[in-house]
Amino acid sequence: MSEQTVYLDGQYLPLAEARVPVLDRGFIFGDGVYEVVPVYAGRAFRWPQHRARLGRSLAAIRIADPLGAAGWDALVRELVGRHPWPDQFVYIQVTRGVAPRAHPFPADATPTVFAMSSELKAPAAALLEKGVSLASLPDERWLHCDIKSTSLLGNVLARQAAIDAGAHECVMFRDGFLTEGAASNVWVARDGVVRGVPAGPLALEGIRVGLIESLCAAEGIAFERRRIHRDELGRADELMISSATQEILPVTLLDGKPVGNGIPGPLHRRLHQAYQRAKSDPAIAGWS
Ligand SMILES: Cc1ncc(COP(=O)(O)O)c(C=O)c1O
Repeated sequence: MSEQTVYLDGQYLPLAEARVPVLDRGFIFGDGVYEVVPVYAGRAFRWPQHRARLGRSLAAIRIADPLGAAGWDALVRELVGRHPWPDQFVYIQVTRGVAPRAHPFPADATPTVFAMSSELKAPAAALLEKGVSLASLPDERWLHCDIKSTSLLGNVLARQAAIDAGAHECVMFRDGFLTEGAASNVWVARDGVVRGVPAGPLALEGIRVGLIESLCAAEGIAFERRRIHRDELGRADELMISSATQEILPVTLLDGKPVGNGIPGPLHRRLHQAYQRAKSDPAIAGWS
């Protein structure tokens, strides 16, 4: 049993009481999109960017936005306010709704809107002090990885393959070039430059991508986005991964070999510290 209150189709109710019909297209087809939004000291962090990405994901799969900007704002505020934790992460999911099972879009289904908020714990000190490990894998997912879709089977299988290999996360490559992790963006630093992959259909545009670009600019760290060959990861001084719940983690092992000198590096330290400050900086956090 959980004390969590969730939002489902206009109602707030205990998590254990939330029910979705089995013919929901999210269950049958994975026909939906989602968001994960961190909340610090009770306020959603970079919420305008998350809301905009949700809008792009909905438009990409042709679901009309069921709530609109003001509706999403109110939902997130209300859900966060119903929980005691200062730091939370809000999960939002929209599916195409309930309809007889058939692939074409149903003519008259109403989107199912679900949201829940959970306690957000800061990344464990051991992960920051020792760093995490990555396992290289071919990227076998589809060609619309920029859509934050609930159809995550490729990501789930990749993440499990990394865990089976004893790693924390995977790093995926398509035609020899970096795409991303199963649930994170990947950063490659060499000679003082932090590099990430270009925006496009092969990787999710993480909300931390724009954030890390801003943090680098503020810190005077060179930042570049371009295609990154897998050999460059082997020569990197530092590797990092980023996501809403993990912030920015240092990577110290790649396929069992040390990254750089095998300990978290100075660029990670600076970006981690800048990230902590950003959590209460209204201009970066997106609070007006
Ligand atoms: C596949 C994938 N790439 C990248 C990210 C990072 O995105 P964000 O910074 O918005 O959490 C995630 C987040 O979970 C993800 O699932």
